[in-house]
Amino acid sequence: MVRGSVLSVAALVAVAMALGMVRADGLVDHPIAGSAINYLDGQWELSSFEFAPDRTFKAQVPGDLITDLQNNDLIGDPLYELNFKNATLWNDYDWTYTTTFTSNYDPSSGAALWLVLDGVKMGATVSVNNEMLGSVTDQFHRYTFDISELVKSGENELQIIFINDIHTDGRFMACTGGWDWAPYTTTESYEGALTFSRGIWKSVYTVEIDGAAITHFVPHTFYRGEYPATRLEEHAHDGFAVQAHVHLWSKTATSGTVTVTSDFDTQTLKVDLPGGDYIANLTLSANAADIDLWWPSGYGKAALYNVTASFTADGALQASTASATRRIGFRMFALVTGNDTDPEYRTNNKYVDGTDFHGMYWRVNGLLIFSRGANMIPMEELEGRMNAEAHRQLVVSARDGGMNTLRVWGGGIFLPDVWYDTCDEMGILVYHDMAYAQQGHSPSATATQDAELRHQIRRLSHHPSIVMYDGCNECQVVIGTDTGIYATFVMAVVAEEDPSRAVWASCPSLGWATGVNRLTGQPNRSPDGLVTHVGTTTLETHGPYQHGSGFPSVNGGATLSPFDPNIPTTLTPTEAYFGNDQDLNATGETAFKRQLYQCMLGQALEMKSNIETRRGTNQFGILVWQLNEIWPTGGWGSLEYGTPVQGQVIGGRWKPLHYFMKKSVYADVMATCGTNGTCYVKNDSPSAFSGRVVVESLALADGSSTVLFNQTVSMATGAGITKWFNVDLSNFNGTKALLRATVQSGAGQIVSDNIIPFVTPANMQVPAANITVTVSDSTHSDGTVDVVLSSQKPAAYVVLTTTAQGRFSDNAFFLTPGSHVVQFVPFAGFDHDELRRTIRVEHLAQML
Ligand SMILES: *[C@@H]1O[C@H](CO)[C@@H](O)[C@H](O)[C@H]1NC(C)=O
Ligand SMILES: *[C@@H]1O[C@H](CO)[C@@H](O)[C@H](O)[C@H]1NC(C)=O
Ligand SMILES: *[C@@H]1O[C@H](CO)[C@@H](O)[C@H](O)[C@H]1NC(C)=O
Ligand SMILES: *[C@@H]1O[C@H](CO)[C@@H](O)[C@H](O)[C@H]1NC(C)=O
Ligand SMILES: *[C@@H]1O[C@H](CO)[C@@H](O)[C@H](O)[C@H]1NC(C)=O
Ligand SMILES: *[C@@H]1O[C@H](CO)[C@@H](O)[C@H](O)[C@H]1NC(C)=O
Ligand SMILES: *[C@@H]1O[C@H](CO)[C@@H](O)[C@H](O)[C@H]1NC(C)=O
Ligand SMILES: *[C@@H]1O[C@H](CO)[C@@H](O)[C@H](O)[C@H]1NC(C)=O
Ligand SMILES: *[C@@H]1O[C@H](CO)[C@@H](O)[C@H](O)[C@H]1NC(C)=O
Repeated sequence: MVRGSVLSVAALVAVAMALGMVRADGLVDHPIAGSAINYLDGQWELSSFEFAPDRTFKAQVPGDLITDLQNNDLIGDPLYELNFKNATLWNDYDWTYTTTFTSNYDPSSGAALWLVLDGVKMGATVSVNNEMLGSVTDQFHRYTFDISELVKSGENELQIIFINDIHTDGRFMACTGGWDWAPYTTTESYEGALTFSRGIWKSVYTVEIDGAAITHFVPHTFYRGEYPATRLEEHAHDGFAVQAHVHLWSKTATSGTVTVTSDFDTQTLKVDLPGGDYIANLTLSANAADIDLWWPSGYGKAALYNVTASFTADGALQASTASATRRIGFRMFALVTGNDTDPEYRTNNKYVDGTDFHGMYWRVNGLLIFSRGANMIPMEELEGRMNAEAHRQLVVSARDGGMNTLRVWGGGIFLPDVWYDTCDEMGILVYHDMAYAQQGHSPSATATQDAELRHQIRRLSHHPSIVMYDGCNECQVVIGTDTGIYATFVMAVVAEEDPSRAVWASCPSLGWATGVNRLTGQPNRSPDGLVTHVGTTTLETHGPYQHGSGFPSVNGGATLSPFDPNIPTTLTPTEAYFGNDQDLNATGETAFKRQLYQCMLGQALEMKSNIETRRGTNQFGILVWQLNEIWPTGGWGSLEYGTPVQGQVIGGRWKPLHYFMKKSVYADVMATCGTNGTCYVKNDSPSAFSGRVVVESLALADGSSTVLFNQTVSMATGAGITKWFNVDLSNFNGTKALLRATVQSGAGQIVSDNIIPFVTPANMQVPAANITVTVSDSTHSDGTVDVVLSSQKPAAYVVLTTTAQGRFSDNAFFLTPGSHVVQFVPFAGFDHDELRRTIRVEHLAQML
């Protein structure tokens, strides 16, 4: 389409205006790329004829209705006390969101104008200038409407009306109305699933399409070499192919050129678009010499590359070019379920269909990795509170706590871009459920769900951090014998859209009979799609993949080590962990502080013990429940509720468990001991380790140390290298002492520090220490601030807390008499004076 010169000048102005409007705060999806974009985000008007016929209220888009009601003082803080149970205004009435916009769109130009809704939660109708466009029922789908015929010059009105009895088919965040770690509400959707809030939770914009729009740009990377069972060497491997799918839409038949550029290769393609949807496919070459690999955290650098796709219609000015950039990384990923250490196995199974039963682990760039991390739940029930920096900091905290893996849990949401971008940058491996779960959120093979899945996979699949998709959370439990839908619908659609990643039916599942490559777990693109194991209608009982039929010879382990009840110590009695006289019904500030301290320390000790048990076996992956909290509570997360509202730390305050992960249980090399002095040191790092293991007894009465074991240790390259040793505990008594196992590197640096209890906290004879804590006035060049603790008596499980934004370098530690310095590591929004004002120190002796 050739355009007149006058129009082109107008288009140039529109582009210039649009560029200033493109939002990039990390909560906004990549937009549909056209010739001009106009975000309608910001302040809208909210009204409800039934509730208040004569009034309008202010509303924020993106956001959510409950937050808007709160901001208008119509309800109190929905998370305060039991307000979430009776703040039902949002559910009792229909609510209308209204905005106005002006448009430079000229209907005679031949271009099209679309209205795009990136995300609307729990069902609404959409109209422009009082013309109904349709309804939006699926929270995870991006809806587009052609408004070319409706839009006027001058002011236009857009209305999104939330009505209660709309059919959503369960397509909204499953945990929105409660889960066993989230507040249970009293309102229900039309289909009977619990509900809470609703709203325009993502951006709204118009996009002008002159020539063609890039609706999605989906680059997939494929390793070109043979299946690697040893580490790929930088710049000396077989390189990658980047299959770039440029999804285009044009109003009419349009000819033009698609270009995909990058630092490593550029390709162009002449295309004749028929009108409507069209996918242009270009393959770029990423040769080993021109790229660095993307490695998980702790394994190397996470190198990233921009790839840009553009479409220019023949004869059009450069200004009407549509252009989209995505950031990719190069890594070869395999979901291993067979004995791939055996070269013959690799040869024999190169083209074999279906997963094996041998156990499960991940290889990245040929390297067997010990995957450790947690399950990620949404940060918010109230989308209006969602915060980009909080999502970024959460991932940084996961990495700093020693994690290299996060699972996006199916009862939540497809997360905002900033979360995946940070995982890409931090080298976090993402195991991604589709947004299906129990409690009314099972899949059905509808056109809407098909479109939702395709949109989300196209939206996300450039991220190198995402290594594996699966169908849902614990769905088969509910579906019973109908396991087929994950094979015939959910994962078939996912695999069709993205064959570059491993797929799994559900979490957990028995694996695939056919449809995936046995070595990698990637879809083998059989025309029949994926087929689950036939004849098995029950959920995988967390075996063999959890217990493993074993990897006896993987990385040097001689035999399969099943769970060992003596590693680590089993603390009993569990019912009186903190003593018999604990009144859990007591109320008031002192009681509440004690309950929270006990809750978090109990969680930390229990989880530490569980993880140590698993690390003593030949398991190669641990994902704990859970990483974060969805509201302010003392729940299962190792991080607290991370939205920066009053009292909370951005990205989540670290609980004792998260410090234990960083210090020992998620450290690359760590040591622990069991009841009778049986100990192990484990190397899960990608290099050989030589250093020293020291086990000492720390007297609770005076803090004095007695060295029980002090030896050098040399271990081959991990993961999975375990050395067992014994420590004589005949003079050790757990009521009077704690055991400490430290591992030092060859250079004498402490790489892990593990305090091991042998009796329940109630049975520890801890003295009544009086700790003073002082915050330094000065700041180190790295931004950290010293915090000095001093005490005449030793103290166990010393926990520092503050409302200041940040974390401590160490916490929940054993304090020996004298003084001890830890650093406070600031996060965004840190206030030095707030740290000084609010720092609190607690320790076990005060809490029994
Ligand atoms: C419910 O709402 C009322 C009025 O807004 C408020 O006084 C009360 O504290 C709220 N919570 C409960 C549990 O009733
Ligand atoms: C591009 O590839 C997709 C599959 O990934 C296919 O559906 C589509 O037809 C291809 N486009 C063209 C023009 O061949
Ligand atoms: C990719 O492009 C963005 C935006 O232009 C830029 O900020 C970023 O530094 C680029 N990243 C890489 C890895 O080149
Ligand atoms: C796995 O392969 C290795 C190498 O060939 C072999 O030594 C080992 O016995 C195999 N393990 C099992 C359980 O088959
Ligand atoms: C100590 O624990 C180990 C590991 O469970 C076990 O094999 C051994 O028999 C135990 N020894 C004694 C003396 O209980
Ligand atoms: C706490 O309250 C529950 C429920 O009222 C009661 O059954 C229990 O005995 C109380 N426990 C104590 C220690 O008072
Ligand atoms: C462990 O042994 C080494 C070498 O003898 C020694 O230098 C070191 O001080 C010892 N460590 C402890 C805690 O005793
Ligand atoms: C450990 O010390 C406590 C407190 O002194 C004592 O009651 C207990 O008998 C000791 N246990 C052993 C096994 O010596
Ligand atoms: C703890 O020490 C501080 C400062 O030395 C003192 O003011 C306070 O009374 C002491 N508290 C207790 C419980 O001994």
